[in-house]
This record gives sequence, C-alpha cells and structure tokens, in this order.
Amino acid sequence: MSKIGIDIEKAKQILQEGGLVGIPTETVYGLAANALDKDAVLKIFEAKNRPHFDPLIIHTDSIEKIKQYVSDFPQWAKQLANAFWPGPLTLLLPKKNTIPDLVTSGLSQVAVRIPNHTLTLQLLKSLDFPLAAPSANPFGYISPTKATHVAAQLQGCVDYILDGGSCEVGIESTIVGFEDEKITIYRIGGLALEDIEKLVGKVQVKINQSSNPLAPGMLKSHYAPKKPLFIVDVAAFLKENNSKKFGVISFSKIYKGEKIISKTLSPSSNLKEAAHNLFAALRDLDESDVEVIIAEKFPDSFLGRAINDRLERASVSL
Ligand code: TXA
Ligand code: MG
Repeated sequence: MSKIGIDIEKAKQILQEGGLVGIPTETVYGLAANALDKDAVLKIFEAKNRPHFDPLIIHTDSIEKIKQYVSDFPQWAKQLANAFWPGPLTLLLPKKNTIPDLVTSGLSQVAVRIPNHTLTLQLLKSLDFPLAAPSANPFGYISPTKATHVAAQLQGCVDYILDGGSCEVGIESTIVGFEDEKITIYRIGGLALEDIEKLVGKVQVKINQSSNPLAPGMLKSHYAPKKPLFIVDVAAFLKENNSKKFGVISFSKIYKGEKIISKTLSPSSNLKEAAHNLFAALRDLDESDVEVIIAEKFPDSFLGRAINDRLERASVSL
C-alpha cells in the first residue's frame, strides 16, 4: 500500500500542506497535523469523529521549541522532562496564544510531549511547527500500536502513514499537571507512577471516572472493543460458562479450551511485555469470532496499573 511507508520527506510535505499523517510513537500511533494550522487540526477531529471538547496533545522534539508555546515551564515540569523525555510522559502547562484554542478545547493549559521514536523524532526535528496528535483511532476505540491498525480504521482520512513498526510501550502516555500545589496525574499510562514518585516523591492521582472529565481519556467508556468485555476470575468463569465462544486476556497463564481464544500477554510475567501486547490482543479478539472477551485483573503496580485502567474503561460491569 503506497499510503504506508518510511518516507519522512513525504510525511513532512503533507504536514506542511495541511494534511494528516499517521505517526509512530513509543506509546501508540498518533494522527498528526500541524498544530498551528486550524484547518488541519479540524481534519483530525473529523477523521476521528472526536468531540471538540476533547483537547489534543502537541508533540515536538525539544524543550526549546516547547517554550515557544507555553508561558511557563516550572521547576516540577523541568525535573520530570529532564528525567523522562523523550518518553511516555505528557505535561499540562499554561499555553501561549501561539497555540490555537481549538487544540486545547478552549482550556488555558496545553498538553505537550516529546515522544521517543527515531522516525518521528527525525520528522519533528525537520518541522518548524509542533504536531497535534491524538491516538490514531476512531474516538472511544482501542488505540493503534501498528501501522496496519491505523490503515484499517482511518484509511480514507489519512494522507500517509509512517510505519515505525510495533509501538514499544504499547499504552498511551502518562498525563501530568499541577493542581492544589501538587504534582497531579490525570491519566495513568506508559510511565509508571512508581517511577515518577521515585523522582519527585508522593503525587496526587486524579484519574477517577467522571461524566465531565478534565481529560476525556478519563471517560468511563473509552479504549473499548466493540464486543462486550468483562473483568473476571478467568478460571472460575470458564468453569461455569461454556455456552459461548470466549476471548481470554491473561497475564502469564495460558488457558486452553475448544471454545476459547487465549491471549497470554506475557508468559514470563513481565508487565512491560504485557502492556506492549495489550491493544493488539484486544483488537485481534475483537476481529475474531469470539462473542465475549473476558480479562483477568493484572497486578496493581507499575504498568499493571495502566493495563487495569484500560481494561476497566473497556469493560462492562457484570
Ligand atoms: O501516548 C499518547 O499520549 C498518544 C501519542 C500519540 O502521543 N496520544 C494520545 O492522545 O493518547 P489522545 O488524544 O488519544 O489522548 C490525549 C488525552 C485526552 O484524554 C485529552 O483529553 C487529554 O489528553 N488532554 C489533551 N490536552 C489536554 C489539556 N489541555 N488539558 C487536559 N487534558 C488534555
Ligand atoms: Mg486516544
């Protein structure tokens, strides 16, 4: 498919002309446009069917560039940026007027991030504007971790997809801001809470589900497959339920059975590996002939927190 490739020049040209490009990052693929071009940004909302109240993250390759778009880069942000950028961390900082209100949905803060992916860093370096880029999936659906995922869902709306392989981290960035004089986490993601606290001490976590969220990634139903997903004790559940064909998401245990498709995310119980595999496994099951997806709860530490968060938002309660 000519739409997918590794031609950075082509990606650059399309972005300069106001087009949309799928870009790889270490977390998930983004659907990128020139963040300073309102018409280009509008195309992102249309392609994703995304409500305008859901603001976008801007991506660049250096703190110097970010300073053109934020009015303050406080000490707490410097400390986190120096430790974790490029990487799966997004910072909420007060915006300058250089960033269109459309990007931030009228909020006074803009979300910024330096992603850690060679191809995309090369692209960002060559551009004199930042890229607004939400995850490259239709609003509410599972985020893409491969170029083919983007092509499958946004084929008609995207002008080119840079193929950077399978996303290493596999789960969206951790969003951090500052509220009530405290460093605050709004979305738990690919950078673990433990790693942040090791650097800056105890932080406040505000990722609770709400119908009027600060970040729609906080919406109760998000990151969801089309098939119903339940979080259960898998072994007990399978013993009692055998009328349907089930897809099973487990950490390290391999479940066997005639009527199940089992996705073991990390046979060696490695949470990083499990996070890397999560979204592709959910997608595979959604596209398979299973009727219902069941998932077990993961250990509630390090990337297990982000995995549980995404599974909970993808699930329906029993
Ligand atoms: O890993 C990631 O963050 C990926 C890659 C492509 O960088 N991007 C991503 O974007 O996950 P998106 O749009 O799918 O999720 C961004 C989240 C949304 O929940 C949005 O509401 C929140 O960030 N957000 C963006 N700007 C914000 C702002 N100014 N204030 C509060 N929340 C914001
Ligand atoms: Mg998203």
